[in-house]
Amino acid sequence: MTTILGIETSCDETAAAVVRDGRVVLSSVVSSQIDIHARFGGVVPEIASRAHVELLTPVIAEALVEAGVDETGIDAVACTVGPGLIGSLLVGVSAAKALALVWDVPFVGVNHLEAHFVAAFLEEPELEPPIVVLLVSGGHTMLVEVSEIGKYRVIGSTIDDAAGEAFDKVARFLGLGYPGGPAIDREAMAGDPNAIRFPRAMMDSGYDFSFSGVKTSVINHVRKNPEVVTADVCASFQEAVVDVLVTKARRAAKELGAKGMALAGGVAANSVLRERLLDACTDDGLHGFLPSRAMCTDNAAMIAATGYYRLRDDGPTPLDVGADPNLRLAIFT
Ligand code: KG4
Ligand code: ZN
Repeated sequence: MTTILGIETSCDETAAAVVRDGRVVLSSVVSSQIDIHARFGGVVPEIASRAHVELLTPVIAEALVEAGVDETGIDAVACTVGPGLIGSLLVGVSAAKALALVWDVPFVGVNHLEAHFVAAFLEEPELEPPIVVLLVSGGHTMLVEVSEIGKYRVIGSTIDDAAGEAFDKVARFLGLGYPGGPAIDREAMAGDPNAIRFPRAMMDSGYDFSFSGVKTSVINHVRKNPEVVTADVCASFQEAVVDVLVTKARRAAKELGAKGMALAGGVAANSVLRERLLDACTDDGLHGFLPSRAMCTDNAAMIAATGYYRLRDDGPTPLDVGADPNLRLAIFT
């Protein structure tokens, strides 16, 4: 039995969790800074780092109490070492190393993106690889083939804006506030998704994505047609983005012979994306899995779980490792 404390501070969520054997979540505490950043219309890195320093110790303490373990019950400390905001990452990495040192247990550095792919399996143990994971967040848009837990290959990613970034930018332009995704999702419910045909870039070629064109197209359309109904713009924009995401994920699953598809990242909360992906899975005979909103967005349970597999396969991470804001994904196949 291996019990791991996970720590996540790569962006604006301060999180700690205790997970047993990479599967059983004993506790998962997330303190979101969303209210602190909302009035600036986005995450302010300096403010995020300062908030992590204030929040992390109580969040870790709460995670241990909720799990009903003390330091003698922790076998390793796992922490996100990248990618993310450097000031934010350093807070978590320093805390994790210090705890590993005083508790005399291994430290495990975790790639935040890999943790998003592991998250689906944490909530759905019956999900059988190989699967295709569509990771769609404010910072990333990726299609990933997971051949088994801990073994994956990125097959496509965005060449410009991330999907969530496009939602946030369009919402900002339309005056709907931050974060933009939930606002557009809500507004779109009253709109007609076929009102305006926005472009679907690169939909039928390859697995890479591009969302900056659709964003510009929305802005140009609204400038030219100031009387257009905002709900129709939101619904049509959302339709274009979801259409591209689901078409590509579906094609990837078919070509790779995957048994299922799963979503990860904040945009996975999008109601139309969830519905369409499940419909596609039903049509194609695939196991579709939509992790809960809490598991799609940043949390430390996915970090602790990934730490378990990395510790098992690669051993402890040396204590002189740094945080890397641009950490790339190693390809494990
Ligand atoms: O994964 P996440 O919480 O944070 C990172 O980017 O790391 O994702 C946040 C992104 C934001 O861009 C937000 O607008 C988007 O997820 N989002 C949504 C929805 N809820 C959150 N996008 C579309 N529809 C939603 N319902
Ligand atoms: Zn994330």
